[in-house]
Amino acid sequence: MKHGALFVVLLLSWMVSASGRVTTAQAPDPRNLQVLPKNLSRNDVVQQMRVIATALGVRCDHCHMEQRGAFDYAADDKETKSVARAMMRMTQEINGRLLPRIGRVPSVMVECATCHRGAPRPEPLTNILKDTVGRAGVPAALLQYRQLRAKLYGRGTHDFGPPPLNIVAEWLAGDRNDVDGAIAVQSFNLEVNPDVATSYSLLAILYLQKGDKERARASFSRALALDPTNEFYRARLASIK
Ligand code: HEC
Ligand code: HEC
Repeated sequence: MKHGALFVVLLLSWMVSASGRVTTAQAPDPRNLQVLPKNLSRNDVVQQMRVIATALGVRCDHCHMEQRGAFDYAADDKETKSVARAMMRMTQEINGRLLPRIGRVPSVMVECATCHRGAPRPEPLTNILKDTVGRAGVPAALLQYRQLRAKLYGRGTHDFGPPPLNIVAEWLAGDRNDVDGAIAVQSFNLEVNPDVATSYSLLAILYLQKGDKERARASFSRALALDPTNEFYRARLASIK
């Protein structure tokens, strides 16, 4: 079983191995490992679990049931635990079988954090916001952006810079035919990410779609002030009669 051996080696290199470092006397050995090697010590499993919990931005209780202050880690009563098992198998499949096919020896392994980046579900910010617009409207989506940004800024979970909000604004003006909503999103974008020429340019284009030439002119002027050599902004500004 050559493949089996390679598989275990890749798995072990993917894991943060803590073998032989610490030992706890009382903790029972793992008894329900179906994906991790069955002979892993409890300490090695817990090290693994810490890496997983950090990657998903959750605590142990996300996947394990807590009863009267005690965890039954071997129990399989949470759906998230079974999804996590499938995710572990998927990650092994990527690292063990698919990644080696890229045409050179891979030097970076895929981990939970590669996709999750601190989120329980690795959903792009644009999708989260579009979904909220659809369910609850533009103000609710902007509030949600503020809350997510306050909690996650700097963690790498989402891009809180201009592009995702640009995309939501363009989607509102296009697919949803809601230019007012688009203007609200793009004005908000400039409030949270100020002084970005391309953001003013998009705002100007949205004002033109609404027929508000005065605000369009003002926005193109701001864009040009921030990026004085940009001929596109200069031409658009001159063309507004
Ligand atoms: C995202 C889900 C998830 C999170 C969060 C999580 N675990 Fe786990 N845990 C699992 C899965 C899945 C297994 C089973 C692995 C297998 O079948 O090989 C497991 C197994 C275990 C086991 C072995 C139980 C046994 O007897 O078989 C221990 C101990 C454990 N986890 C501790 C923890 C601790 C401590 C934390 C918090 C630091 C934690 N887990 C966080 C999913 C999770
Ligand atoms: C290739 C990208 C990728 C990798 C790597 C990955 N995941 Fe996921 N994970 C996803 C996606 C996408 C979803 C959402 C699936 C869905 O729509 O239900 C998800 C969902 C989950 C969920 C369900 C969350 C919920 O609340 O429903 C758990 C638990 C989870 N992942 C754990 C893990 C663990 C643990 C690892 C590492 C062993 C991991 N994932 C690695 C992409 C990934």
